[in-house]
Amino acid sequence: CGIIGYAGDGYDKEVLDVLLTGLSGLEYRGYDSAGVALADETISVYKSEGELEELEAILKEEDVPSVPVGIGHTRWSTHGPPSDRNAHPHTDNESSVAVVHNGIIENYESLREELSAAGYVFESDTDTEVVPHLIHHYTEQGLDEEAAFRKAVEQLEGSYALAAVFRGSETIYATRQDSPLVLGLADDGTYLASDVPAFIQYTDEVIYLEDGQFATLRDDEIVVTDADGTVLDPSIETIEWDAEDAGKSGYDHYMLKEINEQPRSLRQCLRGRVDELEGTVTIEELEDLPTPERVQFVACGTSYHAALYGELTLRERGVHTQTFLASEYDRSSVPIDEDTLVIGVTQSGETADTMRALRQAGRAGATTLAVTNVVGSSASRECDYTMYIRAGPEIGVAATKTFASQQTALTLLADAIEDGERREVLAALRDLPDHVQSILDGSNAREIAAEYEDSDAYFFIGRGYNYPVALEGALKMKEITYKHAEGFAAGELKHGPLALVTSNTPIFAVVTGDDERATKTIGNVKEVEARGAPVVAVTDGQSDVERYADHVLSIPETHGRVGPILANIQLQLASYWLANRLDRSIDKPRNLAKSVTVE
Ligand code: G6P
Repeated sequence: CGIIGYAGDGYDKEVLDVLLTGLSGLEYRGYDSAGVALADETISVYKSEGELEELEAILKEEDVPSVPVGIGHTRWSTHGPPSDRNAHPHTDNESSVAVVHNGIIENYESLREELSAAGYVFESDTDTEVVPHLIHHYTEQGLDEEAAFRKAVEQLEGSYALAAVFRGSETIYATRQDSPLVLGLADDGTYLASDVPAFIQYTDEVIYLEDGQFATLRDDEIVVTDADGTVLDPSIETIEWDAEDAGKSGYDHYMLKEINEQPRSLRQCLRGRVDELEGTVTIEELEDLPTPERVQFVACGTSYHAALYGELTLRERGVHTQTFLASEYDRSSVPIDEDTLVIGVTQSGETADTMRALRQAGRAGATTLAVTNVVGSSASRECDYTMYIRAGPEIGVAATKTFASQQTALTLLADAIEDGERREVLAALRDLPDHVQSILDGSNAREIAAEYEDSDAYFFIGRGYNYPVALEGALKMKEITYKHAEGFAAGELKHGPLALVTSNTPIFAVVTGDDERATKTIGNVKEVEARGAPVVAVTDGQSDVERYADHVLSIPETHGRVGPILANIQLQLASYWLANRLDRSIDKPRNLAKSVTVE
């Protein structure tokens, strides 16, 4: 979900324009409905199920007032199906206050019962709607706007980023708990959003609100207070990327742009961290990181695949390492103590499952480390240590450049945790951005995608470091093409999946190097070939896998740990071009969100 708010001076900019621009800047977070509330002597609410265009179409038909303040929201359903009436903002029965909310209010049922008993009529199925009714309840008792807002928030359990506007008032009230909220300062007003791209074109001066803090926004000031009302002096940070960075720069899709940005993002990830001549790795942020007895990774989705890759690099150095899906961590009964380092791999730094696992680890005494892309994210603020992957903003819902940067960062991190043989790896990392560029310049993935447009399913196989790459290749394929795709450890094929293999299920086999693993994977390739399945080999040409393949996606020859990073680039392109032929909603696949801030 996404939140935007703007308190303007009423002259320079139409509040509505700012809200709509903001919501389109947040589209990548995924949503199923959108709405705005404009506050003046009355509160006008406009909302609609579906894409932002639907809301814009409604607004065109209306005589929309010019107002000093407003809030907007894109919703990704948690309680109640997507519909006009479940879209935010929500108001009380008298439309005296309008509220937008991200997160989940866990005690909403009991609050709803109490409020209904007191005569409040609920118009939606959402958990959010309890908030405007609660606020109204307290203003009726004589509290002023701010006091009523605070008192209502006190009753809430769960996670929330909340913003409210009142009838006849020019102030926005906001707070957060376990859900991101960032404030923006400019000469022509103040801004509030769940993420910076919502207002980056208006200002780069921001304040990250912390859990439990409150903010009041007026056109000329933002006041941040703690839960007791004490005024705080928050630090103002400057965002370094601009609106252009967050735009598509001529590509048809953000995803293709981001795939093509990988040489640059990998250079940024490596910059200043590798001294290849000395054979040293320096990660400034981690200089005093204690050497752990054991390491646990927690992550979701693509980041989980990067974590599996990171696990292998650490195990190779003799470090006892396990990887957990963050959503399963609390049920894993895994031992955690002060000598455990728990690493949350999370592009956004906001994924609720990952945050929960990190908090659990922290409470149990572990040292926590976030490997993230977003400065100021919840993960970076809450963990003991943070390593940034420096990939730059990623807008496409399906992660691409952040995966390559995560793999690269985790290769460096393994060195920071435990010394190992590194000269050759560092030389390979030095060449990595150029190698990626050569793949981007010469890839035939588009032609191969055309060849297999009508297949029943797509399977991806790999061994060792190539196994997480196979998993990620399949995830990307299913996310953006909506086709059935699965990734398997190559050796597992014969233990079941082989039953699915036919002449209409192409197999993408990732084979790098020419060692025993490669030989065994080639054995698996022969097995599927014998069943008539077409084979696309993703290979550096060292082994003879090409002899058994119908098509080859080539990557440059490099170190065994770096080859899988390159192989993934070809798989990203194959998925992209297939989705493109199928005319899918590539940047915003159905039912998916960039940052999932609910568990
Ligand atoms: C969502 C996204 C995935 C992403 C996952 C983890 O499900 O759609 O692309 O891999 O969240 O996100 P994170 O920000 O924690 O890396």
